[in-house]
Amino acid sequence: MKRPIDRYVDSLLRRRRPAAFAPTEDDIAVARAAIDLAAAAPDAQRPREAFVEDLRRRLAERQDAPPPAPATTEAHRIRGRRRFLTATALTATGVVAGVGVEAALVGSASPAGEGGDQELTPTVGSWQTVAAAADLPEGAVLPFDLGAVTGFVRRVSGRVQAVSGFCTHQGCRLRLDTPHDQLACPCHGATFTLAGAPLTRPHGGSPLPALPRLAVRVDSGNVQVYAPNRA
Ligand code: FES
Repeated sequence: MKRPIDRYVDSLLRRRRPAAFAPTEDDIAVARAAIDLAAAAPDAQRPREAFVEDLRRRLAERQDAPPPAPATTEAHRIRGRRRFLTATALTATGVVAGVGVEAALVGSASPAGEGGDQELTPTVGSWQTVAAAADLPEGAVLPFDLGAVTGFVRRVSGRVQAVSGFCTHQGCRLRLDTPHDQLACPCHGATFTLAGAPLTRPHGGSPLPALPRLAVRVDSGNVQVYAPNRA
């Protein structure tokens, strides 16, 4: 039996008026991500934008009050949990069918800017090796694939960084464009800097969010990204 939030998302994506229900905080996160995805649909027309905006407003009205601002670490933990709940729920409802878990994650990516200003940190996961530190010298970039999370790691000024490997337009997997020192999307032509900042966007489209950053470290000679454990 479908949960109220599943029915809500189904209705949203079919451009129908969703039935009212009392959402939990996680439901709200899911619904917001679905709204963002629906609004980013390539065939979105003006009436649909108005429809989505109305949904956004009604959803906002259901919140009694904005959540309190927790301490930075706690805020990251909560945001990460919301994103992974969002990813799981949206994938389960088929919103991002064929794209994958992290495509839903990028639906809540950070705004455009000089690289992602938010970090995706799951609360259930582990540090997973993506490369030997020796294979990532200064200036190098390497792709990685951990199943639920894919991305790129690089070393800049001695520090290791990692960004998501899915386009923030509609979730296609990015490829490394080495000659141009950028990440390129094969679907509609978007490009990003190696730090994740959007460079070009699909023709006629809105500015894209930056690629989310991923938690990364060097431990015992290995570059490791914090990611959900493989099933
Ligand atoms: Fe459309 Fe990347 S998915 S540009």
